[in-house]
Amino acid sequence: MLVTQQKTLRRFWYAIMPMEKLANGPQPFTLLGEPIVIWQKSDGSPAAVRDRCCHRTAKLSKGFVEGDHIVCGYHGWQYDCRGACVKIPQSPGNTIPPGAKVDAFHCQEKYGYVWVALEDPLKPVFEIPEHAAPGYRCIQQFDVRWQTGALRLMENSFDAAHFAFVHKGTFGQFHAQKPEFFEIRETDYGFEAETRLVINNPPASHRITGSTEPTTRRHFRNQWHLPFNRRLGLSYPNGLEHLIVTCATPIDDAHIQILQWLYRNDSEADCPASELNDWDLRVIAEDKEILETVDADAPVDVSRRMEQNMAADQPGLIMRRRLLALLQAHGEQEVHRATAQA
Ligand code: FES
Ligand code: CO
Repeated sequence: MLVTQQKTLRRFWYAIMPMEKLANGPQPFTLLGEPIVIWQKSDGSPAAVRDRCCHRTAKLSKGFVEGDHIVCGYHGWQYDCRGACVKIPQSPGNTIPPGAKVDAFHCQEKYGYVWVALEDPLKPVFEIPEHAAPGYRCIQQFDVRWQTGALRLMENSFDAAHFAFVHKGTFGQFHAQKPEFFEIRETDYGFEAETRLVINNPPASHRITGSTEPTTRRHFRNQWHLPFNRRLGLSYPNGLEHLIVTCATPIDDAHIQILQWLYRNDSEADCPASELNDWDLRVIAEDKEILETVDADAPVDVSRRMEQNMAADQPGLIMRRRLLALLQAHGEQEVHRATAQA
């Protein structure tokens, strides 16, 4: 599926970057192949328009912010958050030619991140009750660009068959264990996969699971939210709750931005954020190494038989079926490299 060619994907909210980045001025980003610029208005809320001035096509992200407006760095034309040109400094009486505007996109702040939808969103950003729950802290983990596809990262997040191979250097001993319980339930937002199994505690990082024992029992509630978000809830017998939110935001057909953050019902003294981040950075570096070698264009129509499958691929196969159904419900077919070139 070439994500930039599937119009329905433009109708979802995507996490773009932490809000703090906007303190450094307008920020460029490419979402589904669309160059956008994001800036912060005087009330603190973010705004997003196409990153191309309608005067002489300069990138607005090279400009600066004045009040609520973004100012082009070339000749100073100013735009509001709806993309309308509202000021031309050289124009007597500030006469604005009809049609002087750029496309604007839906933009909001949520959970400390900027979210953008290129067209009218089909549904709101998924809920994270822990964000406002008392006793929880939020830890931003990473915001990095990878050369892979969004579906590739999503299915990897639910793929227990790779642990013993890709993660043999960190936590990947799961192949020796059978989960006590595994169930996958489809929902309107995607699916929830529930697992209970015993894991090895991260060596020398017992504070991550709050247990000094060599192993601990972990209860996973791993949700996939269409199209490319997951929330992984981990519960431990000692009452510790650890929630991982991972967004695979499609930059173009061959790249994604991974944004990941955590919620925990403990404190910095119980487990320093740096310890959690160091461990998870080691884990995702293992995934990156292999995911940057796969074809970013993951097929969603399995009847094309582009790839072979096994029983353990069930989560990824449900994702493909649901994504294909989503496209078809909006009158689209899957566009892949062969059809795009035809
Ligand atoms: Fe933007 Fe001229 S190119 S003001
Ligand atoms: Co992995």
